[in-house]
Amino acid sequence: MKNIDSSNHLRGQSIYLDDIPLLTGTLFAVAFDSPIAHGVITKLDLTEALDSEGVVRIFTAKDIPGENQIGGIIPDEPLIADHHVHFCGMPVALVVAESDELARMAVKKIKVEISPLPIITDPREAQQKGELIVQPRTFTLGNSADAFENCVHVFEGKVDSNGQEHLYIETQGAYTVPMENGAIKIYSSTQGPTAVQRACAKVLGLPMHMLEVDVTRLGGGFGGKEDQANTWAALCAMATYHLKRPVKYSLHRMEDMRMTGKRHPYSSDYKIGLDKDLKIVAYEATFFQNAGAAADLSPAVLERTLFHCTNSYFVPNVKATAYSCRTNLPPNTAFRGFGGPQEMFVIESAIAHAADELGIHPSEIQKRNLIRTGDEYPYGQIAVSEATECWEKAEKLFDFEKAKKDVAKFNSENHLYKKGIALMPISFGISFTKTLMNQARSLVHVYTDGSVNISTGAVEMGQGVNTKILQVAAQVFSINPDSIRVNSTNTFRIANTSPSAASATADLNGRATQIACEAILNRLKDVAAIELNVAAEKISLKDQCVLIDGIKSAMDWKQLVMAAFLRRVSLSEHGHYATPEIHFDPKKEKGHPFAYHVYGSAIVTATIDCLRGTYEFDSVNVVHDFGSSMNVIIDRGQVEGGIVQGIGWMTMEEVIYDKEGRLRSNALSTYKVPDVYSVPKEINIDFLQTSKDNLAIFRSKAVGEPPLMYGIGAFFALREAIKSFNPEVKTAFDSPMTPEKVLMALHSRKLKMNN
Ligand code: MTE
Ligand code: HPA
Ligand code: MOS
Repeated sequence: MKNIDSSNHLRGQSIYLDDIPLLTGTLFAVAFDSPIAHGVITKLDLTEALDSEGVVRIFTAKDIPGENQIGGIIPDEPLIADHHVHFCGMPVALVVAESDELARMAVKKIKVEISPLPIITDPREAQQKGELIVQPRTFTLGNSADAFENCVHVFEGKVDSNGQEHLYIETQGAYTVPMENGAIKIYSSTQGPTAVQRACAKVLGLPMHMLEVDVTRLGGGFGGKEDQANTWAALCAMATYHLKRPVKYSLHRMEDMRMTGKRHPYSSDYKIGLDKDLKIVAYEATFFQNAGAAADLSPAVLERTLFHCTNSYFVPNVKATAYSCRTNLPPNTAFRGFGGPQEMFVIESAIAHAADELGIHPSEIQKRNLIRTGDEYPYGQIAVSEATECWEKAEKLFDFEKAKKDVAKFNSENHLYKKGIALMPISFGISFTKTLMNQARSLVHVYTDGSVNISTGAVEMGQGVNTKILQVAAQVFSINPDSIRVNSTNTFRIANTSPSAASATADLNGRATQIACEAILNRLKDVAAIELNVAAEKISLKDQCVLIDGIKSAMDWKQLVMAAFLRRVSLSEHGHYATPEIHFDPKKEKGHPFAYHVYGSAIVTATIDCLRGTYEFDSVNVVHDFGSSMNVIIDRGQVEGGIVQGIGWMTMEEVIYDKEGRLRSNALSTYKVPDVYSVPKEINIDFLQTSKDNLAIFRSKAVGEPPLMYGIGAFFALREAIKSFNPEVKTAFDSPMTPEKVLMALHSRKLKMNN
């Protein structure tokens, strides 16, 4: 089944925040944000701005009727700077004017004086100064200190990975409308409608039932709108609260890039120990997470870093410690992979380091250490693994041995172009790491004409979750998908939702939908049994028909629905799902936090131009564990998109903050994302379909985030290519591997020799 949005997307008919028709009297908000990363506001001069054409009012922190607080996990983030500013881009005032242009003109006339305080941008420096968001956490398995004693090879090193701009095509924004009795309707481009509702309730000092959040769809979120849509919604809601008029704020791209947080940069140390058979016996890692100026989701991201500290490998002795470090950058936030990619890059670097020293290809080590069913992850969960299956199938299907030989042959015949090949296995845990978040609800109505309307907590952001939810209902009822509609996500229809995140949206909301549909189906079957005068067990539904013992009766779906209504049987159901089996004890740092894991292996081949340092990706060949994919087209799209986004993070996307905490890569002219020329020439995806049972919806495993981490293979493919041109060079484990870095690595030692 195609994505139900595809034809509207293609015609430009899909509704995003900016497509909502505006009510008469709508005003436009724009934030004035701090130009200084850290300091005390000594003077804020609004006079000239207030006189500016079309300005209705300018709000500051003192206009907040409730609490000036939007921190989700920890209350450490003011909505609007009060006395202190903690990062460049922090909202200081909100201009509300008759048009978007007039508001932006007025913002330029605001003058602020800030007495500067010391600025920290480096997470290691923050850690040394004791600037931590939360207490550090440590995961351990076995005894790494003892185990290192018995290792034949031990290697230590440092790894750095940079941030990543979400670059959702639709920027952040909100539109708030006053309703009766002080209620406010909030249209928000958010992954977390309840998070928006909760934040606005706190800021306005109103009960949550006064705030209706509605989301039709997002033009991408990628984690950037899990928590950080709250700001714009709360700012607009505050203006609507005071002015009793609709208020809209739609961020310009540069505002969005400057004011919002990104993927967390990490700086990490590793120590890896191997025995003579290349088994990884011990592994230690320390992670310094650059959290930015407030907690946001950093503690949860930190946790997932620890969960994935050994990626797809079984290591019997592990010790991993993670620090969430407070710096003067915009608070960093969720981004596809949620701390997992940062860690996986560390252990892959450790393995590449070992391979360098031992003079072998890293895959020799990777392959010997893949986690198997029955092995224990460092947090105590026992693996039900497809790691070896994926790896071996990838090796065979894409003939890795031959591919390696082809690369070697190419490299021996070419001097100015070199190829490199790398394998990247992944293992990603599915479930929110916080157990309580793994719950969802679905409201299903069957109307008397047989059409079906579904509301869930799921937010459609391009990942195709609405299509999957529709498929669930179509399958349970066995009716035509055309007679089913999936509604916008709305906090008045579905309450207390978890954000659409953690790749678990289809699992959680799909299961809730399945539960609701099955409850209605069972009632309908009872009605059919009475109407047709047979036992309920004999009734089934297929292709809009009622069957008795598998044979078509005279009754169809519509007639059955009407019969139920006439008998006053409920045609609606509110389904609730909570993932069973999962638990975690943060005191012991042990448990069974994930419903299941997703596995896979990618083979990445790259070619570099050794004069220019530029590169291309010849191919990414993947065997990915889909369980039993319920939508092959959507799932393929998710894998392709994830790979490209992962390659972008690892290679060309370079977030640059200067020492003053100012974003220098603040536009698409200075921040390079993959385009049609830089995506891999070929992406081949093999669907590992397994018959094993799992907790996914229809056994179709979550696919949103895991494929991003195949992109890490791109870094190591480039590294291999560099090695073949310049065998002496020790390329630092410092991503992104931009063309500039490639060029320096290619010629570093040689340049020195020439001098
Ligand atoms: N795909 C598209 N097209 N747009 C997005 O914003 N977000 C990713 C992934 N794929 C995203 C996407 C992220 S970060 C997550 S967590 C999942 O989708 C969320 O959706 P799911 O839970 O339905 O997989
Ligand atoms: N993944 C993604 N988003 C989240 C998580 C998680 O585990 N926890 C809270 N938000
Ligand atoms: Mo995705 S980072 O969990 O929104």
